[in-house]
Amino acid sequence: MVLLLCFSPDGPVPLSRGGPGTLIYRMPVYILGIESSCDDTAAAVIADDVILSNVTANQDIHASFGGVVPELASRAHQQNIIPVIHAALQKANIGKNQLSAVAYTRGPGLLGSLLVGASFSKAIAMGLNIPLIEVNHLQAHILAHFIRNLEKSNPVPAFPFLCLTVSGGHTQIVIVKDHFDMHIIGQTIDDAAGETFDKAAKIMGLTYPGGPIVDNLAREGNPTRFFFSKPNIPGLDFSFSGLKTSILYFLRDQLRKDENFIEKNKADLCASIQQTILDILLLRLEKAALQTGIREIAIAGGVSANSGLRSRLDALKQDKGWNVYIPPLAYTTDNAAMVAITGYFKYLKKDFASQSDAPYARSNL
Ligand code: KG4
Ligand code: ZN
Repeated sequence: MVLLLCFSPDGPVPLSRGGPGTLIYRMPVYILGIESSCDDTAAAVIADDVILSNVTANQDIHASFGGVVPELASRAHQQNIIPVIHAALQKANIGKNQLSAVAYTRGPGLLGSLLVGASFSKAIAMGLNIPLIEVNHLQAHILAHFIRNLEKSNPVPAFPFLCLTVSGGHTQIVIVKDHFDMHIIGQTIDDAAGETFDKAAKIMGLTYPGGPIVDNLAREGNPTRFFFSKPNIPGLDFSFSGLKTSILYFLRDQLRKDENFIEKNKADLCASIQQTILDILLLRLEKAALQTGIREIAIAGGVSANSGLRSRLDALKQDKGWNVYIPPLAYTTDNAAMVAITGYFKYLKKDFASQSDAPYARSNL
């Protein structure tokens, strides 16, 4: 009766009916995703679009340096990658021989870090004789919205949608017409939003990464207490370098008058800085929605973990009649689940990579 069958997260997947009394089932596609573009070593396993495991090893080593030290990051990736992959397979409860393909982040990112994930992925794919899939990190952040979780279902954006991708290295507004048909309609001309959070935090003496710390302190602060300059550039592009300078000079002047100024006003400073960054982001996002007429609005990337951004988007949902898609926290900062889901969509298209593909430090979508 059953010809081909195994697991699907929702039970076996009937593909088609064969002759009378014959049901044909198919095996799910198991993808191992590997992410190592910056300072997180991550591995995840999905069965079709359903997440089975998502493991990340963070590198605390950079905290005292105020930013990621590339050489230390690649060494830490080398130490972490085997245990992380092992844990991902174990949590998914599958053996490596069941994998259908390996997907890895090819770029953009730190070359030394990317090389560790790329080399490892190539070796696994060759050793198991399965396809290798290369993934663009920025596409992966966006496609994280399509990961299915059996315990808690999330609504999925409908095409076309707008995605505000905000991370440590990028700030973009993207029109997403299909899984791999993406166009940038606005982006930063200097610093990224996450970088601005981190630099502001560093000026205030907070450790790296500063974004989550600023977010936490901002909850207790007054967001209108201090004023910082906002860029005045036309169109949908962003700029954060003026804000960074404005924070630096403001604090320098205040510290001359009172050396404990930051300590005394930390929560209000964080709340005011965060408010300014979010104003800059959301003004462009609103403009983009108006110009394109698109009301399906998503956010992605590390800064999409920000509680202020998440609640302001929720409010805009009511105000503007948008459908808003906010990723679960686990898929905001760098993770391998987003690489695995991108790998799954590429697997369906048989879009496989070559062993000779080299990582790239820079690229857009
Ligand atoms: O996507 P991601 O993990 O790495 C890159 O692709 O760059 O983003 C990291 C960035 C860092 O700048 C970090 O400070 C920021 O995301 N970030 C946050 C929050 N969590 C992470 N920024 C603001 N609020 C947060 N809760
Ligand atoms: Zn990222």
